[in-house]
Amino acid sequence: MMKTIFKITTSVLLLSWASGFRSFPKPSPAWGIASDTIFNLGRPATPADINRWDIDVRPDGKGLPKGSGMARKGKTIFAQKCAACHGVTGVEGPNDKLVSTDSSQVKAIGNYWPYATTVFDYIRRAMPFNQPGTLTDEEVYSLTAFLLEANQVIKPGTELNAQTLPAVRMPALKKYILDDRTGGPIIR
Ligand code: HEC
Repeated sequence: MMKTIFKITTSVLLLSWASGFRSFPKPSPAWGIASDTIFNLGRPATPADINRWDIDVRPDGKGLPKGSGMARKGKTIFAQKCAACHGVTGVEGPNDKLVSTDSSQVKAIGNYWPYATTVFDYIRRAMPFNQPGTLTDEEVYSLTAFLLEANQVIKPGTELNAQTLPAVRMPALKKYILDDRTGGPIIR
């Protein structure tokens, strides 16, 4: 019985797919044409659309935007937009611990992140968890400064910007080694 139902369902699905497909304009021999011409869906992304997504900041700092920030301002923003999930000082939770200055093995920015620039990248693209993408670049610089200062990675009062942030050396960088294995029998 199940088998029959499955067969019927499958044929119905296939039929509707096939009939739907036939109603699309025939793909021209030039398969290179944009898919929206075939399916009449969406529109080409504009440069403004692409810019909104193209926000990656690399370990060497490439992609960092203009602007700057300091921990003092970051502390206020953190209290308003982050503390509910990470605790007032970044250790109390309930979510990830962000600050670690002791020898505990709980991963946090100070003892685990190899680059300071990617802290900026992560906060800008992913936080606050419930409202990603809402922070201004200045706010992200300030929050990064607050967290790096709390982790005792930068000196109090350090201004972070596109020049100073890539120059910050993270204590955990030395814990990472370049994986230059070539694979195959050499590593077995
Ligand atoms: C609604 C809760 C919530 C809020 C608000 C929030 N976060 Fe988070 N945050 C999380 C969760 C959950 C994770 C873990 C996400 C994951 O692992 O995918 C996280 C992870 C992080 C991490 C990475 C931790 C690590 O070492 O892996 C950073 C940095 C961070 N948050 C910073 C912030 C900052 C800065 C703010 C304020 C602008 C903020 N968060 C606001 C819930 C929150």
